Amino acid sequence: MARRAPTEGTAPSCWVFGYGSLVWRPDFPFEERRSGWIEGWARRFWQGSTDHRGVPGRPGRVVTLIPSPGDRCWGVAYRISDDVRHAVFDRLDYREKGGYERDEVIVHVSSPGQGGELLRAVVYHAAADNPEYLGHAPTPEIARQILLAEGPSGSNRDYLFQMAEALRSAEEEDTHVFALERAVRAMLDERDR
Ligand code: SIN
Repeated sequence: MARRAPTEGTAPSCWVFGYGSLVWRPDFPFEERRSGWIEGWARRFWQGSTDHRGVPGRPGRVVTLIPSPGDRCWGVAYRISDDVRHAVFDRLDYREKGGYERDEVIVHVSSPGQGGELLRAVVYHAAADNPEYLGHAPTPEIARQILLAEGPSGSNRDYLFQMAEALRSAEEEDTHVFALERAVRAMLDERDR
């Protein structure tokens, strides 16, 4: 991935690829939405969040991309028209300011009857060297952290449940996300008993 991918260009539009909250809550205008995937990356709840789904001192966990040869990460690509490009990226840079940087990826999309197609897209990626990065932890530990965290954008568990729901609606498998969903739901059941 190219760090700090440019969003300028001469093309009449550009694409942004979302794999987390941008899948279920794109709060910007777009011309077109395509389901697709990137190769060699996996989605993980390894990024800390102190501005959306947690607070300083009690960070939540949100998704980022981890290099993972042989894997693919499903998401949604949005086509942004040139006249709103600046406004959209200003908004996204602010929304994703908690450790994410703009990178560039190649998104694989398939069109019915037309076979595969490749799109160059901007993606927000929180790399392992950012200050909010939390990294790997055992599933029960991540699940407990998600269960307890809450921030200005809402509870961390709603973020997880919405992620899982978006994957289910797209009929996409993600063992990491679904294992966390099961673990958090089990903890909630246990708590309410
Ligand atoms: C994304 O959705 O593509 C980035 C991570 C997030 O905002 O949840």
